Amino acid sequence: MMEEDKRTHIYFLIFFVSNIIILIPNSSLAKICLPRKHNAALFVFGDSLFDVGNNNYINPNTTQVKANYLPYGETFFKYPSGRFCNGRVIPDFIVEYAGLPLIQPYLFPGNQEYIDGVNFASAGAGALVETYQGFVINLKTQLSYFKRVSKKLKQKLGDAEAKSLVARAVYLIHIGSNDYLALAQNSTLITSYSPQKYVDLVIGNLTIVIQEMHKQGGRKFGLLKLAPLGCVPLVKALVNGSEGSCLEELSSLVRMHNIALSVQLQKLEKQLEGFKYSLNNFYGEVLDAINYPSKYGLKVGDEACCGSGPYRGYYTCGGKSEVKDYYELCENPNEYLFFDSIHPTEKANEFFSQIIWNGNQSLNEPYNLKTLFQE
Ligand SMILES: *[C@@H]1O[C@H](CO)[C@@H](O)[C@H](O)[C@H]1NC(C)=O
Ligand SMILES: *[C@@H]1O[C@H](CO)[C@@H](O)[C@H](O)[C@H]1NC(C)=O
Ligand SMILES: *[C@@H]1O[C@H](CO)[C@@H](O)[C@H](O)[C@H]1NC(C)=O
Ligand SMILES: *[C@@H]1O[C@H](CO)[C@@H](O)[C@H](O)[C@H]1NC(C)=O
Ligand SMILES: *[C@@H]1O[C@H](CO)[C@@H](O)[C@H](O)[C@H]1NC(C)=O
Repeated sequence: MMEEDKRTHIYFLIFFVSNIIILIPNSSLAKICLPRKHNAALFVFGDSLFDVGNNNYINPNTTQVKANYLPYGETFFKYPSGRFCNGRVIPDFIVEYAGLPLIQPYLFPGNQEYIDGVNFASAGAGALVETYQGFVINLKTQLSYFKRVSKKLKQKLGDAEAKSLVARAVYLIHIGSNDYLALAQNSTLITSYSPQKYVDLVIGNLTIVIQEMHKQGGRKFGLLKLAPLGCVPLVKALVNGSEGSCLEELSSLVRMHNIALSVQLQKLEKQLEGFKYSLNNFYGEVLDAINYPSKYGLKVGDEACCGSGPYRGYYTCGGKSEVKDYYELCENPNEYLFFDSIHPTEKANEFFSQIIWNGNQSLNEPYNLKTLFQE
């Protein structure tokens, strides 16, 4: 109630002032006096593709899964912001297209408004709690953070306004890649689960989280299919196989995931009231950019800008990984699809964001993210 009263007071003051000072130009008066129609907020969940710095605030004693050193961030922010990129990541472009300010990582210290949304994504996170446990904020924990935000919004705005904000907001999710990378590195896991069974676990856990978000009042969900992981420089360098070959087992696992995700979203659309989604064919776009980088305005699709070894696929960018390795850095990241051995450059992120935002229905099923924001 206190908040409500204060606001009315401020509005009153502005109207009063505007009546007596006639020198203020009309246009800026209109800006002050008309209540701002708020754009739909954006809540972001997932892994390093979307992390805007949350991992900087966890586990102070480990530098694993953090991008808090140069050359990360060098192109756009001019400092390492915690993004696994030389500049902006996909959520940064999406908020720009949606007319929102840059949204903060949830763990950023200090009071936050949450009116425009917030970002919970954590590099290394998976849909499974076990994935890189101890180093990341897993999807379930990200959901619990969202519930706290939802509660705070209710306290601040009142039930009705908070409910409307949460229902109009878009929930952008990219998760699963790390579950499959963890599987590929873990012989115990490989022998314990068939590929289909493991995909079922990942999709099952993701589904529970989406259902919970819907229970909290979320209605519009933007998801990305997973990239062809077997073909990223990191994996190709580890395989060390014949020139240019991908680890087909891993890409095939990801394709199983992508099909299951598509089927699951169609089911949820039938089961959950008001549920709307956009599923971007990220797999197809990344594979296309690896094979035909020039279609995306890039020059190099199969080798990273920053790293060492074959395809610069060894994860040594910045020389802060456990082994303080020598690493190479390309001259112009704007020509590359991959910045380090697994993460896209800012330029590539921008191309992908444009497709996610307003690509046609062959790239986004059943429609693009712009449509979700405008509903
Ligand atoms: C980090 O390391 C310091 C000193 O070694 C130790 O006192 C502290 O408990 C550690 N913190 C965590 C979260 O492990
Ligand atoms: C392999 O996965 C199991 C089950 O999640 C886990 O307990 C174990 O620590 C993992 N091993 C490695 C080397 O990561
Ligand atoms: C979620 O993952 C856990 C392992 O982390 C598994 O035990 C559980 O069965 C999964 N849930 C679903 C619904 O698949
Ligand atoms: C990769 O292949 C090269 C030659 O083809 C060989 O010298 C090197 O030891 C291999 N590295 C690994 C990690 O297997
Ligand atoms: C969708 O866009 C892609 C890329 O711009 C284009 O190749 C394709 O023909 C379009 N498909 C339809 C159905 O418009």
